[in-house]
Amino acid sequence: MDLDTRLENVAVLGAAGKMGSGIALLLAQEMAREKLKAGNKDRTYVLHLIDINQESLTGLLGYLRVQLTKAAEKSIVSLREVYADRDDLIENYDVIAAFVEDSLSVVRPSTTLDSIGGSKLVFEAIIENLPIKLDVLKKVDSICGPDAYYLTNTSSIPIHVIDEGVGLKGRIIGYHFYNPPAVQKLLELISTKSTEPEVVAMGGELAKRLRKKVFPANDIAGFIGNGHFMRDILHATAEVKRLMADEGMTEPEAIYVMNKVSQDLLVRPMGIFQLIDYVGVDVCRFIMHVMTEHIEGERLEDEILNKMAKAGVLGGQFASGAQKDGILKYDGGRPAGVYDLSKGGYALFADGDWVALLDEKLGAPPAGIAPWRALLMDAGKSSKLKTYFDALAATDTMGAGLAREYLVRSQEIGAKLVADGVADSADVVNGVLTNGFYHLYGPINEYAELMTDKVGGK
Ligand SMILES: NC(=O)c1ccc[n+]([C@@H]2O[C@H](COP(=O)([O-])OP(=O)(O)OC[C@H]3O[C@@H](n4cnc5c(N)ncnc54)[C@H](O)[C@@H]3O)[C@@H](O)[C@H]2O)c1
Repeated sequence: MDLDTRLENVAVLGAAGKMGSGIALLLAQEMAREKLKAGNKDRTYVLHLIDINQESLTGLLGYLRVQLTKAAEKSIVSLREVYADRDDLIENYDVIAAFVEDSLSVVRPSTTLDSIGGSKLVFEAIIENLPIKLDVLKKVDSICGPDAYYLTNTSSIPIHVIDEGVGLKGRIIGYHFYNPPAVQKLLELISTKSTEPEVVAMGGELAKRLRKKVFPANDIAGFIGNGHFMRDILHATAEVKRLMADEGMTEPEAIYVMNKVSQDLLVRPMGIFQLIDYVGVDVCRFIMHVMTEHIEGERLEDEILNKMAKAGVLGGQFASGAQKDGILKYDGGRPAGVYDLSKGGYALFADGDWVALLDEKLGAPPAGIAPWRALLMDAGKSSKLKTYFDALAATDTMGAGLAREYLVRSQEIGAKLVADGVADSADVVNGVLTNGFYHLYGPINEYAELMTDKVGGK
């Protein structure tokens, strides 16, 4: 069965969640475009949007209408071609309204699986809970039969565990969109030893149609993106503990330092603790837990994250996508304080001179430093980064020392992902980190090479 036929009847499980709603948005547009093709007028297109939360499903329809309108506004030129035979659509807003209605006309929200029979492509974006995923997928499999293909968005659970748990016999692939799916270009495509080649080919073709950049990952818990991110977190938290023990810093001070170093001196879009908050403290803990369960000989767990979660410091995002306070407090989206577990409240950057004293202790940044945002669109960023990292290698400050350690550790993590067979090459690891995490350079890079003989002595 070809992809065009599969796209006639599709289901999204967990459709009202953060990821499911974005996947639903992408699919509604793609299916509407299929439906509007000249030869397809007699075909029926159905997108089942399944979620147990009725209230969220109702909200999903409003979300889809708003987002479909925005997407249609951006692609008005191609939509004019799609509707070339519709003389009644004169103004741009007529075309936009028609496309929004055509897209919404395919969706069928439901809190039950009753009508799901006939689905040939099933996207799974249910909460990251293996027993729940298995339970729902078993029911769906018994309803949809052996022709259906499954695409799971799990962040951490090995795909073969889901495959074997449900009995799909290779009809499943890891289809790891990044958040938000409609915006993020990266898609990690994870096949197992038993994934049918046709499923892999179909996943690749669909990704192209959705204009995603595909990076293949092998089926090892955490895959590439989280495989790097979780270990990067553990480096930062180990450094926090070391700074507390060796430098007499308090925990909020050490967290401030590592967040600043990992953002400013590594020229990353956000510091490591801000990224933990963005993803959610509990989500990170959970991914580490799943990785520990499935990766032999490595225990991924962190005391700071555990303590924060226990104190209800969870981060995450509001429905609008705005950052919730977590390990850091945010003011207008920018870090403005660090949670102090000993006081049960935030130590604000603006209170007193503790931040200025820490900045002084870290020392002046190396020459040539530029913020991530300034370099992002700069065509000359490679040579500017090289100049900057040369300076970082030669700078004798506490901040530069911490940044060098960080770069080298990040490189080791990237190399381990290749050595362990999670990624097929350094280029794939670098591609995931640059496309999915918006790093300006991959973890396996020439800059870290400059630092390797300079770390360890702190
Ligand atoms: N949030 C991210 O940044 C992100 C990124 C990549 C992958 N993922 C993965 O995507 C999946 C979904 O994550 P999310 O962040 O969108 O979670 P979420 O909590 O926002 O959404 C999960 C949805 O699943 C629904 N659900 C729960 N039980 C269900 C059931 N039995 N049947 C149908 N629906 C059910 C919930 O009502 C909810 O709407 C997880 O596997 C997660 O690991 C998340």
